[in-house]
Amino acid sequence: MTEKDFIPSDPFSSIVPGIIQSEAPSNIALVKYWGKFPNQIPANPSISFTLNTCTTTTTVAYSINSGEKDGCSFEFLFEGQPKPDFEPKLKTFFDRTNKYLPFLNLYHLKISSSNSFPHSSGIASSASAMAALAASLVELERRHHPGMDQQFANQKSSFLARLGSGSACRSISGSVVVWGANKHIPASSDLYGIPFSNTLADVFKDYQDTILLVHRGQKQISSTVGHKLMEGHPYAKQRFKQAHRHLKEIKKVLISGDLDAFVTLVEREAMTLHAMMMTSAPYFMLMKPNTLSIIESVWEFRRETGIPLCFTLDAGANVHLLYPRKHSGKVLQFIKNELVAYCENGQYICDQVGKGTIIS
Ligand code: PMV
Repeated sequence: MTEKDFIPSDPFSSIVPGIIQSEAPSNIALVKYWGKFPNQIPANPSISFTLNTCTTTTTVAYSINSGEKDGCSFEFLFEGQPKPDFEPKLKTFFDRTNKYLPFLNLYHLKISSSNSFPHSSGIASSASAMAALAASLVELERRHHPGMDQQFANQKSSFLARLGSGSACRSISGSVVVWGANKHIPASSDLYGIPFSNTLADVFKDYQDTILLVHRGQKQISSTVGHKLMEGHPYAKQRFKQAHRHLKEIKKVLISGDLDAFVTLVEREAMTLHAMMMTSAPYFMLMKPNTLSIIESVWEFRRETGIPLCFTLDAGANVHLLYPRKHSGKVLQFIKNELVAYCENGQYICDQVGKGTIIS
């Protein structure tokens, strides 16, 4: 597939007003995407677990655009309220995607969005938000062209979501998604995420992700700026090579269910992501003292119990704890006894591997 395959070739006429709702999950990367080229092309491949509970629900009500406006006309409500701060990001999204969704010029869109997780919890909502919006817009195209098959619809949704926020392209499908061309995963692409097609070891099918909310404040640096700092980063070349290597290794681990190898690889990826941040120019640090306390406690718990609990991090201070479902009882007890003390207002969210975006 090339970018041109996503430009519709058939003419469109507007259809009767309607409404589409999508629910898209967040995702957590095991091998991280950090660094990009123009047009949201990743500098290295990544792979993630699609989540289940942390979701964005987006409703797109479309009506015939009677105004003079060129391009897409839209209004946006977040949790029932106008959200002018989000509008520039949406405008950029619609500008970038107009070529692939030309029929949107026929409509006025009323977009309403809400998250299942607490607002400003420090959980990045752009992945689930952009995936939900992209999936709704592809569904609208599908109402024009009912022949569009599911695989193409998913690829196009992922392609468009990527143009909103890179990692969002991994939130369309479940339960493990690969994004970024690499020789270890056939059909992998820089343009969209694809489901991991090998047989996943049973243990990963309902793997748990408990997200410890360490810091809810504004991030010190946006991920857009962070990605940019990989340009000219002294360790970038090695890092990108390492990500390819890690992808090869994690593929084996996801098939075999080797949890020791999983723990080592996933934690090393999280540490590398933050090491890149700490060694860029300018350098920055998104971990907080409580992030480090949690990591040390996790290591101690693992040493003492032998339970393969591991952590990973996004571009922020919150900690994702990954573990097999059969250990939920002991891990949740450990979280309640020791780790909630490091969470802002004692907050954490229990999630697990999920199936991807649902349209209704
Ligand atoms: O999707 P973005 O541009 O917000 O980048 C997010 C990158 C990380 O979350 C740090 C890693 C990843 O692969 O999700």
